[in-house]
This record gives sequence, structure tokens and C-alpha cells, in this order.
Amino acid sequence: MRIALVGGTGDIGSGFALRWAERHEIIIGSRKEDKAQESAAHVRGVLGGGNVIGTDNKSAVESSDLVVLCVPHEHLISVTSDLKGSYSGQVVVSPVVPMSYNGKHFTFTPPAEGCAALQAQSLLPDGTRIVSAFHTICAAALQNRSRELQGDVMICGDDIDSKEVVAGLVREVNALRPLDAGPLSASSLVESLTPMLLNVARRNKIKDAGIKIIQER
Ligand SMILES: NC(=O)c1ccc[n+]([C@@H]2O[C@H](COP(=O)([O-])OP(=O)(O)OC[C@H]3O[C@@H](n4cnc5c(N)ncnc54)[C@H](OP(=O)(O)O)[C@@H]3O)[C@@H](O)[C@H]2O)c1
Repeated sequence: MRIALVGGTGDIGSGFALRWAERHEIIIGSRKEDKAQESAAHVRGVLGGGNVIGTDNKSAVESSDLVVLCVPHEHLISVTSDLKGSYSGQVVVSPVVPMSYNGKHFTFTPPAEGCAALQAQSLLPDGTRIVSAFHTICAAALQNRSRELQGDVMICGDDIDSKEVVAGLVREVNALRPLDAGPLSASSLVESLTPMLLNVARRNKIKDAGIKIIQER
């Protein structure tokens, strides 16, 4: 696939590029083309090559099969609205978590739509297949290809085939496990896990925390 990482110069975008570049063409997007090209060169340097290019967000979306929205929630509206005309049926993946820190702990701060994924759906062209995933994956761990990730990735969406495409991308990151967490309207439940996870990690000094669903024996 040709995978566009909108805002892919940041932490989670770099992690996706490093993990997916062996099997896919990665197009790192940025507001600034030269910044994207620097990021792409960095990823190619780490990998010793690879099909990774950098360009502006608009060109990245236009030439992709699948788009990942790698921007902080506060910029989701501007990025999706500005690029709306560049979409042409791509699957859109949202790892976006609307959250804030109130001085004591992280809290889930969803938009009026209920969650970031539904907000993205309301801003993108009608019929865009949105898949919500990767919210509880730690970017630092993702960026280190020698690390085997133990967590689960809860996936929400309304289109079965798109969810399976994203489940495949999850499986390409050893040893992440994709789990179906329901329709897109259930994404608020998954997105809200991240502030909880960060609070637990801070209070219990757990570095690079993740989430795994276990089956008791
Ligand atoms: N970090 C994690 O561990 C993690 C884990 C799971 C989910 N997530 C989610 O993934 C998303 C990205 O997180 P991140 O940590 O990678 O974010 P980040 O590194 O802080 O930022 C990502 C990119 O957003 C772009 N950006 C910044 N300000 C912008 C603006 N005003 N308008 C448009 N784009 C702007 C920047 O790209 P350019 O300057 O190149 O345009 C930046 O490199 C967030 O929604 C987060 O909730 C993160």
C-alpha cells in the first residue's frame, strides 16, 4: 500500500514509518515539505534504505491508498478540513486521542461528536471509511524496531474490510495483536483508555506502558 502519514514528522508517525516501510511505500506528510523530506531521510538512514518519501500533507494524501492522521487532537479540525478535497476513497486511520492534563492527572476531553474518530468522520468526505486504532501504543517503543511490542490494539470501525486492512498493519508490528472493539461509535471507549494508561504509568513508574487483554485460566 501507499501509506500517507499526515503529520508523520512527529513521534507516532516516525514509529509507523519505521515499522511499515519494509512492506509498504511510506509518504511522510508535513505542513512543510522540507521537514517531511528530512524525516524521510532519517527513516531511510535508520533502515538502510527503504521506500520512504517526504512531501506536504496534501500531496501525501492525494497519492495514497491509506491515510493515518498523526496529528495532536487540537489540530485535527484544521488538518482534516484543509485536506478534505484531497481524499478520494482512502481508508483513514485515527490514532488521535483528545485528552488534557488538569494539573493532577490526564483526562479524556472528547469533542461534541463523542470522540476524535467520529469528529474526523464528520469533517471528511461522505462515505470515508474511518478506522480507529493504535491509541494505546507508545510511540517511543514503536520507533525502536528491535523492541517486540506486547500490547493489544483495539480497533473500531464500521467497514469490516477496512478494519481487516488495519488489523494487518497491526500484525506487521511484532508482536502486537489486533482486537475488534466494535463500530466507530465505540471509539470513545478506546480513546479514553490512553489518559487512564498514562495516569497509571506515571503513578506506578511504568515506562512505555501498553494495554493487553488477558484470558484468565
Ligand atoms: N505519541 C504517542 O505515544 C501516541 C500514542 C498513541 C496515539 N497518539 C496520537 O497520535 C497523534 C500524534 O501524536 P504525536 O505524539 O506523534 O504528536 P506530535 O509529535 O506532537 O505531532 C505530530 C505532528 O503534528 C503536526 N502538527 C503540529 N502542529 C500542527 C498544526 N498546528 N497543524 C497541523 N499539524 C500540526 C507536526 O507536523 P509538521 O510540523 O511536520 O506539520 C507534528 O510533527 C495524536 O493525536 C496522539 O493522541 C500518540
